[in-house]
Amino acid sequence: MDISQLKKEAGVKACQMVENGMTLGVGTGSTVAYFIEELGRRHKEEGLKARCVPTSIRSAQALKKCGMEVCDIDKVGRIDLTVDGADAVDPKLNGLKGLGGALLWEKIVAENSDHYVWIVDESKLVDALRGKVCLEVVKFGSGKLLKQLEECGLNPSFKEGENGPALTDSSNYLIELDLGEIKDPAFLANDLKQRTGVIEHGMFLGMVNEVIAATQNGIKIIK
Ligand code: A5P
Repeated sequence: MDISQLKKEAGVKACQMVENGMTLGVGTGSTVAYFIEELGRRHKEEGLKARCVPTSIRSAQALKKCGMEVCDIDKVGRIDLTVDGADAVDPKLNGLKGLGGALLWEKIVAENSDHYVWIVDESKLVDALRGKVCLEVVKFGSGKLLKQLEECGLNPSFKEGENGPALTDSSNYLIELDLGEIKDPAFLANDLKQRTGVIEHGMFLGMVNEVIAATQNGIKIIK
């Protein structure tokens, strides 16, 4: 089975958790796109209704296109369930997110959810976190911030869009750190959070309740 088939399996499986009338957080990315597609199918064929809080403009558009109701996060109470993708997940269910550029809204939605689930294909399951850590940063002074991060050996670079630096849905810039194994994720997360100009980072530590991983040997649910 190829990766996109695995992503689809994870998305379809997660959609079974959605109940009529729920307030639903909807993540961003290529795996979540399959989840949204399945929501659309259930809406059309079963009349499924859910108030969806999207984590990006992209996801909002996809949800609307398939007939789902889209709500502003500040117009709903607690979110019953949020389903999102991830870039890497370690055995303690700490993860890296944000390569799709939506980490800030994703974290806000996650923190306001009663149940938070990631859907991944098996390539995202890792023994330790390493690789790209994404930061959403304010534009002002972002060149200075990049230099500071460089001096700390964190290998930063601006995420590029089509015409210069990529912009988030909140019109901020993104900086990606290219790291080896992150020996102490909590220490790094705390260090990044405290830097002036960093709005949020893509380390999601101890947040997820459940991971639905699609593997060549079937679906694995990790709690
Ligand atoms: C979006 O900002 C990300 O956090 C995505 O959820 C993450 O990058 C996983 O995306 P894919 O499902 O496309 O791999």
